[in-house]
Amino acid sequence: MRLDRLIQLSFRMGSKEARIFLARRNVQVNGNVEVHGSAQIGHFDRVEARNTVLQARVPRYLLLHKPVGVVSATTDLLHQTVIDLIREPWASELHLAGRLDRFTSGLVVLTNDSSFSTALTLPQKKVPKTYLVTTDSDIASEVVEAFKNGMLFAKEGVTTEPAIFDLLGNRCCRLTIFEGKHHQVKRMFLRFGIRVVALHRESIGHLHLGDLAAGDYRELTAEERLVP
Ligand code: URA
Repeated sequence: MRLDRLIQLSFRMGSKEARIFLARRNVQVNGNVEVHGSAQIGHFDRVEARNTVLQARVPRYLLLHKPVGVVSATTDLLHQTVIDLIREPWASELHLAGRLDRFTSGLVVLTNDSSFSTALTLPQKKVPKTYLVTTDSDIASEVVEAFKNGMLFAKEGVTTEPAIFDLLGNRCCRLTIFEGKHHQVKRMFLRFGIRVVALHRESIGHLHLGDLAAGDYRELTAEERLVP
């Protein structure tokens, strides 16, 4: 938003009044006097005028270990949500950067910075997501091949990127996919009549769950906050 617009809205001023107000050096952006109404104000810029804070948002970035049973939503009438697990006064400001279904556990990112969440979830970015998968029946080599070749999702009109498939046992694998379609992993296995009985997300791009316990969360480090 332009600075003059913010001044007009905050003080119910007309454009001429706002221009004079700015010219009189009444307004500070991030601690520095700003006289130009055309200055663009970012979501997290701090704006003050005559000892009144007009805008002050702190960017927040959390990595949460979502337990099974918790829903990836900000509100839900029936179930506990990921937001309910965040014991911070600003929890309600957060939104999810990518969801997990209720029966899937693992890494979710919560933030109030929409440029960060967009960078993590934009389909064109093809950010890798790695899952530990346990199935109800044996995983045949043709299944592994199909995942590695990519699969057509007719409903979405998308062929998945070749997945990275690491067979860890007859019914267990580590799988990396590059999209985030609804119930994607479960739907991919169901093509072969295989049900996923446990699904756990270990990483998204450069973000790793590590040994964070289920239900716990931590802030992203400065390095982790760099957009992919
Ligand atoms: N694939 C699924 O089936 N569920 C998830 O939550 C994520 C990927």
